[in-house]
Formats: sequence, structure tokens, C-alpha cells
Amino acid sequence: MSNKINIAIDGHSSTGKSTSARRLAHELGYLFVDTGAMYRAISYFALRENLITDQQLNTEKLIEELPGISINFQRNPETHINEVYLNGENVEKEIRTLEVSNVVSIIASVSEVRAKLVEQQQAMGKNKGLVMDGRDIGTVVFPDAELKVFMTAAADVRAQRRYDELKERGDDVDYQQVLENVLERDEIDSTREDSPLRQADDAMLLDTSTMNREQQFEQLMHWANQAILQA
Ligand code: DC
Repeated sequence: MSNKINIAIDGHSSTGKSTSARRLAHELGYLFVDTGAMYRAISYFALRENLITDQQLNTEKLIEELPGISINFQRNPETHINEVYLNGENVEKEIRTLEVSNVVSIIASVSEVRAKLVEQQQAMGKNKGLVMDGRDIGTVVFPDAELKVFMTAAADVRAQRRYDELKERGDDVDYQQVLENVLERDEIDSTREDSPLRQADDAMLLDTSTMNREQQFEQLMHWANQAILQA
């Protein structure tokens, strides 16, 4: 019997993080948590309630509303994907639009939003056996995670991946717009005051620029097996 561990996967957007992390969790029989989905759900709430227009956020009002916002995950029995719910409503599809992507970094810069979500994320990992993907998992949420991975890739490769994903969903998007969004989010996420995106000192670096999904998964699985043996 091996010990269960927590695995923190951080990095830039559209590096293949979620896909690889989800598969890793599935193979290990661990719980997978996509923390970006939680920040996206709050962004969707803010857009719907008109708390953010033209990238201008009514921060005070959002903070006031926070205690009434509940976010949780429920497993879809058909796809086995943990889908995100906002106050009991399934918003898994709504949170993946470019409209949400365009404001999520602003929402994720609000310390009160981060404090609420980090507390919930830490509670999920109490019993170990978790793969969590995000930006601050190895640095803030689980600084003691047994395995930390930091994923990155060249910006144009990431934009192309995101563009293909949105197109496949049937969204009418422009490559240049997607690239701008990827670059802008990198900039905001890495320079914000609270919990900026950075590689933890003890994180393994995985550059996926020239790797396919299979290769990414194999590398992660290899590191995970090593970390489990050492736990
Ligand atoms: O992983 P994603 O692209 O769905 O994340 C959306 C945004 O949420 C990302 O631009 C930064 C923010 N985020 C964060 O600040 N901290 C996390 N742990 C996860 C996401």
C-alpha cells in the first residue's frame, strides 16, 4: 500500500495543464480540482450581475456579494468530469467563453476572492489524494505538496491550442484575439500583488512547447510514481 499524496500543477494558461492533470488524477484514482474553474465561476457571476463592465470592476460590491456565492464541483456520470456549479447551477460551459477569459485575471487579483477560494481548496486537500491545477497551488495553497510541477510553453503554441479548443466548441474566435488574451493574462497573473504566478523553488519544470498530450502525461505519471514511492 502506498501513501496518498497531493500533487500541485501550476503554470501558464493553455499549456495542457488541465487535460494532463485530469488524466493523471484518473489514473491514480485521485480527485482532480481545476481551480481556474472556480475563479472563472466568480467571473461569470460578476459579468452576469453587471459588477464588471468594460474591464471596470466594482470591487466593493463584489466583496459584499462574496459570502452569498457558493462554488462546488459535481461529477458528471457520463463524462466523469467534475463540473463546476455556481449557487447550485451548472456553469461548466458558460465559464469557458472568451468573455469570461477576458475578465478572469482581474477577478483573480482581488485578495478577498483568493482568500475565499484558497480556504475551500485547502479543505479539499486535507485527506490527500488530490491533483489540483492552478497558478498558486505549489506556492500558496499546498506549499507542502509532495509533488509540484510548473508547466509552460511558448505563447504562440499556447494561443494556437486555445484557439483550436474554442473553434472545436463552435465559438467564433480570431487567433490574434486569443493570442492577445493569453499574453495579457500571463502579464496580469505574473505581476499581481497577491499570490503572483511563479514557479515554486521545488517545482519540476515541464515545457510542453514540443510535447504532445501523451508525452506530457507520461512525464507527469513518471514524477507522480516517484513521489508516491518516496512518500
Ligand atoms: O486555468 P485557467 O486558465 O482556467 O484560469 C483562469 C484564470 O484564473 C487565470 O488567468 C488566473 C486565475 N487563476 C488564479 O489566479 N489562481 C488559480 N489557482 C487558478 C486560476
